Amino acid sequence: MAGKKPWAGRFSQATHKAVEEFTVSLHFDHKLYTYDIQGSIAHCRMLARQKIIAAGEAKKIIAGLEAIRRELDAGKLSLRPEFEDIHMLIESRLIEKIGPVGGKLHTARSRNDQIALDISLYLRDAVRGTIALIEAAQKALLGLAEKNIDAVLPGFTHMQHAQPVLLAHHLLAYFEMLDRDRDRLEGCFVRVNRMPLGAGALAGTPHPVDREYVAKLLGYPEVTRNSMDTVADRDTQIEYCSCAAIIMMHLSRLCEELVIWMSPEFQFIDIADAFCTGSSIMPQKKNPDVAELVRGKTGRVYGNLMSLFTLLKSLPLAYNRDLQEDKIALFDTVETVQSCLNIMALMLPEVKVNKGRMRSATQSGFLTATDLADYLVSKKMPFRTAHEVVGKVVGHCVHMGKSLWDMSLAELQRFSPVFKADVMGWLTIDASVNSRKCIGGTGTAAVKKALAAARAGLKKRKKP
Ligand code: ARG
Repeated sequence: MAGKKPWAGRFSQATHKAVEEFTVSLHFDHKLYTYDIQGSIAHCRMLARQKIIAAGEAKKIIAGLEAIRRELDAGKLSLRPEFEDIHMLIESRLIEKIGPVGGKLHTARSRNDQIALDISLYLRDAVRGTIALIEAAQKALLGLAEKNIDAVLPGFTHMQHAQPVLLAHHLLAYFEMLDRDRDRLEGCFVRVNRMPLGAGALAGTPHPVDREYVAKLLGYPEVTRNSMDTVADRDTQIEYCSCAAIIMMHLSRLCEELVIWMSPEFQFIDIADAFCTGSSIMPQKKNPDVAELVRGKTGRVYGNLMSLFTLLKSLPLAYNRDLQEDKIALFDTVETVQSCLNIMALMLPEVKVNKGRMRSATQSGFLTATDLADYLVSKKMPFRTAHEVVGKVVGHCVHMGKSLWDMSLAELQRFSPVFKADVMGWLTIDASVNSRKCIGGTGTAAVKKALAAARAGLKKRKKP
């Protein structure tokens, strides 16, 4: 079925083989075939309804398109590069199957608005799928947090021991990040959810099309508003890729922590064998490769976003063939972010928390020094003075090789007479954690509330 190009009318030479090979996009845009056919069927129904083509013609075209979908599903249609792209492959095959009437499908349509529609349909599914996977990862985080509600570890700033926190609180931080990622995707969906067809090549179409009817058939609440913008715009792809880059950034931070926590120096966690891999030379090795790969793939997703920005920079209106390149970055982004969210949702329940190691790590690093200062503040000392006093106490402890809770009341009183017997209640790890009762704090009661609110929030969320 190869042969003449659908656009070859004004050409007197056949396309050079090298040009065919250079311009082809079929090897990647074939992924859009179900969307392409779905869009064509809706377009064809509209053409018949508007009497732009006859009802009988539409019937034949639709039957032909459905047969082609089955051929493509079964892998029976070879993706020969001379067809350039998925649109031309399907159209050529349609004409081959049902004859010249197949040539009526492209009435009032251009490949420029057709590809915009295909991408929009693809992106709607991509956004929905990504949101579902974010939710799976969020549930995995909540499960791990709830299972280890009594685990305490040092919270870090500058990678130095700072203040004790609940592991559940730490994990809820990632839950929040993913929640915002989800919000962003929901916003992106609103802009993806506008039906492009009818923009034609760039200026609209003289045929009496009913764009709103096509939108209704395809489940769009509205149509795009400017034909030139419709064929030239790739914002929604960029927006998706930017949401994906932020998701990956969040996952990479979590993965970095998992890698650190599994190191022999920390031993805060162990990850089940099924989610680790070994070394080809060192028999003793068990490596957190999944976490490392998520971290590594983040770079590629960032790169894809930058590719799209660069592709669009200074591109004049309206359609330019450059835009064909967008799909490589987009598909890779969707596949990568979804596979990373999926593997995280599977791996997190397989993380075993070593609560003993976490707690013993809280014993060093003067994690309750701020609490000691807060004690003085509760006795009306200005915070800045209290900071200075406790700084001196810590300096003394470092010198003596002891912890804050090893200090007797008499020793503490040498640094300030404000210290009284009740100070001892401020120095333990559990007292420190549980004193942070404010909304968003790490106190056990606050964290339990936050966990319940997170669960309830997931249930309440509407899916686009
Ligand atoms: N394969 C093209 C793309 O992905 C489809 C649109 C082609 N339009 C054109 N005028 N050559 O952008």
